[in-house]
Amino acid sequence: MSATPDARVTIPALQAKKAAGEKIVALTAYDYAVARIIDEAGIDLILVGDSLGMVVLGYSDTLPVTMEDILHHLRPVSRAARRALVIGDMPFLSYHGDEAAAVANAGRFIKEGGAQGVKIEGASPRRLRLIEALVEADIPVLGHVGLTPQSVARLGGFKVQGTSAVDARRLIGEALDLESAGAFAVVLECIPAEVAGLITGRLALPTIGIGAGPLCDGQIIVFHDLVGYLDGYLPKFVKKYADLHAVIGDAVAHYGEDVRRGGFPNGEQSYHLKPPVLAELRKSRNSRSRPRRKA
Ligand code: KIV
Repeated sequence: MSATPDARVTIPALQAKKAAGEKIVALTAYDYAVARIIDEAGIDLILVGDSLGMVVLGYSDTLPVTMEDILHHLRPVSRAARRALVIGDMPFLSYHGDEAAAVANAGRFIKEGGAQGVKIEGASPRRLRLIEALVEADIPVLGHVGLTPQSVARLGGFKVQGTSAVDARRLIGEALDLESAGAFAVVLECIPAEVAGLITGRLALPTIGIGAGPLCDGQIIVFHDLVGYLDGYLPKFVKKYADLHAVIGDAVAHYGEDVRRGGFPNGEQSYHLKPPVLAELRKSRNSRSRPRRKA
């Protein structure tokens, strides 16, 4: 008996891509329609990232995102994804305290959210022990080092990490620790391409980069950045493949103009009565017209 659709990208299949020299392609998604598009396009991994706090919920960072927020968006993405591996991003403070509570929270993403794994940020000794506990509970873990947005206050902003030899060495060590702890792959965010290349060469696990240059085993990007859904600032590492903000803005403005000038809806976009029914309706309307009031 197979519990997953035959076509589902599995974790071993994802890892085999590294050995085969095939790139892993990953994207974030937060809703059913977009997840279907991404899945149908053959993307390998969909992350329901806590970036949803910034691109969907309008916060200025990811810290306010809750377990319920991620679950709310994870469920429709899991319903849509028939092939891609779906990973739920553990939000700030959902895995920072008691280990048993953290495992229970991660378990909710699998049991209630339909994810195949979870992502957690960081590689402190305590975080590594948690990864071991999650793997022991059969919950696959995607690690994440470099710029870890949940540590934005400690890092002093959204800045490139690992730019000195000391910091680069620390990052390489963290990635190796994540591998030893049992993570199935590691996200490298906002680090110099050379450092990402060194890490990718040292690890048996796949590395998935975002702002980490071309030498990673795969790439991930925030969907809204890829398609230009929001206007305004985009980090240097983003390549915008469409300008959805402008496309949708035009469509909405045309709709407004059409409604105001009476061009929408027209006859084609309306439902119509069959002529005999209309004639009958008119007749009965005349016969039941109100008697005139006496003055
Ligand atoms: O939350 C997110 O979308 C992420 C990716 C950018 C890796 O963590």
